[in-house]
Amino acid sequence: MSANCWRAAAERGPAVKSFDIHFDKEGDTMNVLITGAGRREALGYNLVRRCLERGDTVIATVRRPSEALAALWRADPERLHVLTMDIASSESVRAAAADAAKIVPCIDLMINNAVTTSPDCGKEFMQTNLDYIAGVIDVGTVGPLRVIQAWMPLLEKSASALVVNISSEAGSIGACYRTSMIDYAMAKAALNMATMTLHNAFADKPALNILCVHPGWMRTNAGNAEAPLLPYEHAQTLLDLFESKRTDKTGPVFVDYTGKPYPW
Ligand SMILES: NC(=O)c1ccc[n+]([C@@H]2O[C@H](COP(=O)([O-])OP(=O)(O)OC[C@H]3O[C@@H](n4cnc5c(N)ncnc54)[C@H](OP(=O)(O)O)[C@@H]3O)[C@@H](O)[C@H]2O)c1
Repeated sequence: MSANCWRAAAERGPAVKSFDIHFDKEGDTMNVLITGAGRREALGYNLVRRCLERGDTVIATVRRPSEALAALWRADPERLHVLTMDIASSESVRAAAADAAKIVPCIDLMINNAVTTSPDCGKEFMQTNLDYIAGVIDVGTVGPLRVIQAWMPLLEKSASALVVNISSEAGSIGACYRTSMIDYAMAKAALNMATMTLHNAFADKPALNILCVHPGWMRTNAGNAEAPLLPYEHAQTLLDLFESKRTDKTGPVFVDYTGKPYPW
């Protein structure tokens, strides 16, 4: 993406162009939102790549410029739209939703992928600075809720919308074995509760579904170098799963990447 486009994303309003709408529900392509999509080795960016490959229109959001996404945008400026959205800021999330409404008529698939951890994430309890925890939960739990709330008008315009909250086995209370990562685990457990609550709240919205997914252990950063799942390959597995769950409002709400229910 050019410097101008990045400035446009940052400044919003008049700087955001009205793009032609490429909406082809008949052809099974979708309008997709993916948060936290800026890192080449991470899940969000690779979901963007896979969605573009299958012909979707993608709104990829980042909190700061990403050269990796900029390169994707240069290759496909018609179907990839990059917006700035810091999910820790309600103002930023609302501004991005307003920008998105100028680009697409609806969102068919929302993937709440962005996450953060504290510098003390790997430490044992007595060495952990507890003052970090609220910030991790603000991004990991409240962040997706901010996005769902602000982008709801676009979800409600879809003929069949699915919200996927990317969770983790770390958020399972029933299967908990860890003695550390308390910030991350708390944020994901709270995200799971938020997902179930919204699943109940969406009971009267037949065209809106929501689930939370443990995506598996992926090789997305230095700390995960031993992980068996490669993000680009695995992104397709996850997209196939999301499609299979699109209208399944009665099945399990917390699932692993094979679709099996995961213990809350
Ligand atoms: N990797 C695994 O093995 C694994 C296992 C289970 C679950 N998960 C879950 O899968 C998802 C993706 O994992 P990952 O390993 O690809 O994550 P990651 O590499 O840590 O990437 C997270 C992304 O979130 C963005 N982000 C952080 N704070 C943000 C904010 N306030 N607003 C907007 N974006 C923000 C980051 O942006 P910056 O680039 O600007 O920092 C980054 O691009 C996460 O939800 C994670 O919890 C991963």
